[in-house]
Amino acid sequence: MLNLKGKTILVTGASSGIGACVAKLCDDLGANVILTARSKAKLTEVKSKLSERSQVIVADLTDENEFQNLILNLTALDGFVHCAGKIQPFPIKFIKQKHIDEIFSVNLNSAILLSSNLLKSKKFKNGASVVFISSISAEFPYMGGALYSASKSALESFARSFALENASMKIRANIVSPALVKTEMFEQTKNAYDEADFEKFISHYPLGVGEPQDVANTIAFLLSDLSKWITGTTIRMDGGLLLNSKRD
Ligand SMILES: NC(=O)c1ccc[n+]([C@@H]2O[C@H](COP(=O)([O-])OP(=O)(O)OC[C@H]3O[C@@H](n4cnc5c(N)ncnc54)[C@H](OP(=O)(O)O)[C@@H]3O)[C@@H](O)[C@H]2O)c1
Repeated sequence: MLNLKGKTILVTGASSGIGACVAKLCDDLGANVILTARSKAKLTEVKSKLSERSQVIVADLTDENEFQNLILNLTALDGFVHCAGKIQPFPIKFIKQKHIDEIFSVNLNSAILLSSNLLKSKKFKNGASVVFISSISAEFPYMGGALYSASKSALESFARSFALENASMKIRANIVSPALVKTEMFEQTKNAYDEADFEKFISHYPLGVGEPQDVANTIAFLLSDLSKWITGTTIRMDGGLLLNSKRD
């Protein structure tokens, strides 16, 4: 049976969407969940639905002081799920350095720096499991998503190196790569499209678009001991989108 009893799990991006759902599921499965994001109000609301075991640490992962404060306040971890992410459609010809920094600092740099600092400060227990959230756009680009897709591709590549380097300590790392999931990010994507085009686009999902719970369920499996022989893998979750030869 899948359970996370007694495991301490850090969830970034826990204030909304997939991260909030992961935090709730891990708590339901018995874990001690540490929730982090920038919005104290949203984190407090998510925590109010969790058990007393859960803890909130407010941090902007792109702010050096807040980042270091987060690392300092963490206990040893059995699991780390990096859900923090940012999407901002931008045509390639208008990209400036600041746009690259904005996307990469959250989607990639914070994942690398958290992983590195957690290892250096010995905050991963032997047997710990790390899950990074990528996106199918890492493999299958969309118009205006060059920075987002590139940041997720790099994240996947980093995750596989992390898995290789830390396997001797039985520390695992895997990637979950979803297509569209109904969160705030979904609304932002929807707003970037003409309504009819968007309806047509989502009609190509044979199983419909995803729910945060669908992604959280897979992440819970990857955090659990049931997946102890799985590392360096990407699990694509797309409701059958890529099977559909009629999509355009
Ligand atoms: N929804 C989708 O369709 C979809 C599809 C594929 C992949 N994904 C990926 O799944 C992950 C979760 O996405 P979601 O849909 O749940 O998005 P979301 O609801 O917009 O959540 C994003 C989270 O990231 C946090 N965050 C953003 N900037 C941050 C910063 N500088 N420091 C700390 N935390 C920060 C936000 O919290 P605060 O604002 O409180 O800081 C929020 O909790 C992302 O990595 C995303 O790329 C989503």
